[in-house]
Amino acid sequence: MAQLLPASCSLNISSSSKPYAMSLNRSSTVFRGSFRSGTSSFPLKKFVSGGKRSYRFGTIYATAVSMSQEAKSQPGSGPRKISSEASKAKRVMIIGGDGYCGWATALHLSNKNYEVAIVDSLVRRLFDHQLGLDSLTPISSIHNRIRCWKSITGKTLQLYIGDICDFEFLAETFKSFEPDAVVHFGEQRSAPYSMIDRSRAVFTQHNNVIGTLNVLFAIKEFRDECHLVKLGTMGEYGTPNIDIEEGYITITHNGRTDTLPYPKQASSFYHLSKVHDSNNIAFTCKAWGIRATDLNQGVVYGLRTDETAMHEELCNRFDYDGVFGTALNRFCVQASVGHPLTVYGKGGQTRGYLDIRDTVQCVELAIANPAQPGEFRVFNQFTEQFSVNELATLVTKASEKLGLEVKTISVPNPRVEAEEHYYNAKHTKLIELGLEPHLLSDSLLDSLLNFAIQFKDRVDTKQILPNVSWRKIGVKPKTVVA
Ligand SMILES: NC(=O)c1ccc[n+]([C@@H]2O[C@H](COP(=O)([O-])OP(=O)(O)OC[C@H]3O[C@@H](n4cnc5c(N)ncnc54)[C@H](O)[C@@H]3O)[C@@H](O)[C@H]2O)c1
Repeated sequence: MAQLLPASCSLNISSSSKPYAMSLNRSSTVFRGSFRSGTSSFPLKKFVSGGKRSYRFGTIYATAVSMSQEAKSQPGSGPRKISSEASKAKRVMIIGGDGYCGWATALHLSNKNYEVAIVDSLVRRLFDHQLGLDSLTPISSIHNRIRCWKSITGKTLQLYIGDICDFEFLAETFKSFEPDAVVHFGEQRSAPYSMIDRSRAVFTQHNNVIGTLNVLFAIKEFRDECHLVKLGTMGEYGTPNIDIEEGYITITHNGRTDTLPYPKQASSFYHLSKVHDSNNIAFTCKAWGIRATDLNQGVVYGLRTDETAMHEELCNRFDYDGVFGTALNRFCVQASVGHPLTVYGKGGQTRGYLDIRDTVQCVELAIANPAQPGEFRVFNQFTEQFSVNELATLVTKASEKLGLEVKTISVPNPRVEAEEHYYNAKHTKLIELGLEPHLLSDSLLDSLLNFAIQFKDRVDTKQILPNVSWRKIGVKPKTVVA
């Protein structure tokens, strides 16, 4: 199956995205997870015959292994929770399934007997190569990951490698996999990355906005009942001086009242791409009757889920660098190598956070309780809020218990953001659906720190400090020197 994929399998790079110009095969390719026979060769073409899903890749014939026989019902625990009926043999396409949240979610849903297909361009791995970065944890190739999952659980993850900005590729994945739900993680997700230079800003918005538009068109054209679960971010709201609602706010103005989309005040080209996505999705729900859930996710921390912990080849990525690292993960790595915790500016920046185990739970809940046709549903997906200073204090205390000496320093804030502000964001809708949060406890911090210590020889301390400035972004392509 996946191991038979050719080594030269394509990364399809958008021609408008100069930072990604590279000498890989530029054509998009649809791969299925299980090959019956033959060897790989290019060019690969697919055809569908007699209503059966069969594919011809040059001389190769491949057939999807149906997992419906494997699907077993699960114990349900109430009508609002994840019912066995809802999960039975549902076909879920995970766009961005090789990434941090996507990989954990793909395994989780596969383990729950959903039929899962991963769609990914692998561009996240390319960013690392280009910027000289690496995950703290060694991660296996997507092919080895999938093979390992199959050997441990007997379950098949189907794999489509390609760029969703290429509509032809995306259309093929939809026609062949026929998803009941699409979980869309497949975006450039780093605010600093989007602020490196003009070309990265353009890439981010092109990749994210056009990719999502293509998904919307694919749903309309090929699977109009399919539920779109789209990963947005809490960063879309900014930090208003009033409570943040879940997607909508009721306003009375000049004696008239309406419920309107909550105002968005994004603060990077990345966050703005998410706002544009949300607007496009909301419009198509209204215009075409698409059913969608926008998950405005907080900052995710943690490494292990039940599934990724099953084998070292299933290990998830863990970013700690100044471009992709998220605050808590970065602080744990800094503590483990004796690097001061770097607080940007005053450190009063407050955000919503959640454990990766809750990311996978939230997505499962959203799929099992789909939006109605035409409904644009917004959930704020986080479990607790912390300021950066609070996180630094928590990591310091946990580190001291492990005998680590930790200092905190303030470094000039590379971002343009309020460093002291009001923050109170609602997050009740996922709880109402049955989310049982894993809160940031001492034991979790201990285990995160222990991971960081375990892999500390892999830490490149040069990558820790921020080196992308919101104010200094220019038109000249910037090489981030390793
Ligand atoms: N990690 C967080 O803390 C966090 C917080 C809030 C929101 N989110 C959102 O969740 C989603 C997943 O985040 P993540 O941390 O897993 O990111 P990630 O970069 O680890 O994973 C994203 C995956 O999408 C793939 N991808 C990107 N563009 C693609 C394209 N055009 N076609 C096909 N595949 C493409 C990448 O190769 C990568 O594997 C993103 O949309 C992100 O904005 C993440």
